[in-house]
Amino acid sequence: LANGKGEGPAAYAYAESTYRYNEKPVYTTTSGCPVDDPKKYQRLANGPLLLQDFHLIDLLANFDRERIPERVVHAKGAGAYGEFELTHNISDITTIDMLTGPIGKKTPLLTRFSTVGGEKGSSDTARDPRGFATKFYTEEGNWDWVFNNTPVFFLRDPTNFPTFIHTQKRNPQTNLKDATAFWDYLVTHQESVHQLMTLFSDRGTPASFRKMHGYSGHAYKFSKPDGSFVYVQIHLKSDQGIATFNNEEAGAKNGENPDWLTQDLFDAIARGDNPSWTTYLQVMTPEQAEKFRYNVFDLTKVWPQSEFPLRPFGRMTLNRNVQNYFAEIEQAAFAPSNMVPGVEPSADLVLQSRMFSYADTHRHRLGGNFHQIPVNMPLHAFNPIVRDGLMNVNGNLGANPNYQSSYRPVTYKNTRPTVSHEQWTGQATWAIFDDVKDIDYEQPLGLWKVLGKQPGQQDNFVHNVAVHASGAKKDTREKVYEMFGRVDADLGKRLKEATEKEVAGK
Ligand code: NDP
Ligand code: HEM
Repeated sequence: LANGKGEGPAAYAYAESTYRYNEKPVYTTTSGCPVDDPKKYQRLANGPLLLQDFHLIDLLANFDRERIPERVVHAKGAGAYGEFELTHNISDITTIDMLTGPIGKKTPLLTRFSTVGGEKGSSDTARDPRGFATKFYTEEGNWDWVFNNTPVFFLRDPTNFPTFIHTQKRNPQTNLKDATAFWDYLVTHQESVHQLMTLFSDRGTPASFRKMHGYSGHAYKFSKPDGSFVYVQIHLKSDQGIATFNNEEAGAKNGENPDWLTQDLFDAIARGDNPSWTTYLQVMTPEQAEKFRYNVFDLTKVWPQSEFPLRPFGRMTLNRNVQNYFAEIEQAAFAPSNMVPGVEPSADLVLQSRMFSYADTHRHRLGGNFHQIPVNMPLHAFNPIVRDGLMNVNGNLGANPNYQSSYRPVTYKNTRPTVSHEQWTGQATWAIFDDVKDIDYEQPLGLWKVLGKQPGQQDNFVHNVAVHASGAKKDTREKVYEMFGRVDADLGKRLKEATEKEVAGK
């Protein structure tokens, strides 16, 4: 695995090498001692067990430690390997290694899809955003796109994330999902209404991970060595088209096979029906951002495609299933802070907080040396100052000095831009984002109109909200009608009628 220089195997090829099926291995304890029959245990005559039976203790002790913490969000997921192919020249806006060079240049990758709120064993068909996380093993480090299948998010103040997630998970007393808490948060934080419009359309219950889009959501910066930059939004559009369940189909599928989307992905790749996505950029200059109607750092807003057209640049294909789910998917650690030269975070406050949260949770979930787990290893990494720690398993850089030594030649590459257009001036303040205003209901109305052009989709939206909100207390329900009524008065009325009918029917 390790060659003492910090160069791991291409994590991409790891799984193939760990199991040689043509060999007939000898069964042993974890210390390698051959054992004749795994069923046998040592006991005194026909009495109790003997503690000296290491084989049994070895089995039980390892079994007792099989579980690791599940992801605090996005716990249920499925994934596969694949490759990214550069299809267009975009060197006018970027110097990122993966996105420059000959057309057709390929980069290996791993993608994991997930639901957000449910536990590790929960249903794939729950109404929820879907995570769409990809790790690209580029020549200049791992670049993670930790995206969702929705272009916006529920919040724009990072402090709201833990409280918001609590309301979408289980009630602390009953341990049940709690429709009142769910809606109580949302009606008191109405910047979430745009995300709700997507969540309660049929796109909130995708029928396949292969048949949904992915979005960066945040503005990222593509910067050049001279300090110039553009803001970008990244879109992944499914080449398979979109497929969704309606509310009742999603419920029925959950009963029939709660792992349906996981199975659909695995089976498709196993039969060679490899899913792909065309990747696009929306590009905005800093000058355009200053004049933009919406705050470019507001995660509850999209950039209208008529103003900022989609520019294609690549294709991403998933073509290989993992050999071992736990090793390669459960232990995969995606982080928005895994960036490569030429990409920078924008000042979106939610993105800024995500720059901390992911590697932090990985240290908790997988241990401090999580970056040594093969699936997380970059193609090339050398940092002699990062050493030791629990479960250091890659040779620990051998005899390399553990400081910046004048006796050990190391190459330093300057990849950080020195100048930046952005200049922040003023005092440190205690802040929250702007109060919710009329402007926050404009894009939700835009989506309501998009649904209006798709037969039956507005009706399904009303039905989907009604079924869910009918579980909430009366005064919370009233606030739900009021909130959607601010998007469109008729929508508010229709929701009230449909929801109260559901309540009466219960
Ligand atoms: P456009 O008419 O140019 O684009 C509409 C967008 O809506 C397309 O990307 C389309 O994706 C997507 N869409 C279609 N049906 C649904 C649905 N049921 N749920 C969610 N998205 C859907 O419009 P604008 O750019 O002016 O945006 C109008 C509204 O569309 C926005 O308010 C926003 O809510 C939504 N939207 C906008 C996106 C953007 O980046 N501008 C991205 C996604 C949604 P497709 O047809 O490819 O499946
Ligand atoms: C997973 C935090 C917002 C997409 C996670 C995890 C944490 C987290 C702690 C678990 C990671 C792990 O255990 O490996 C946060 C915080 C947010 C935030 C604090 C805001 C303040 C977002 C947004 C998006 C997003 C806006 C999408 C645009 C994802 C995805 C995963 C994830 C896709 C699953 C990654 C995987 O497959 O392993 N998030 N998140 N999150 N988050 Fe977020």
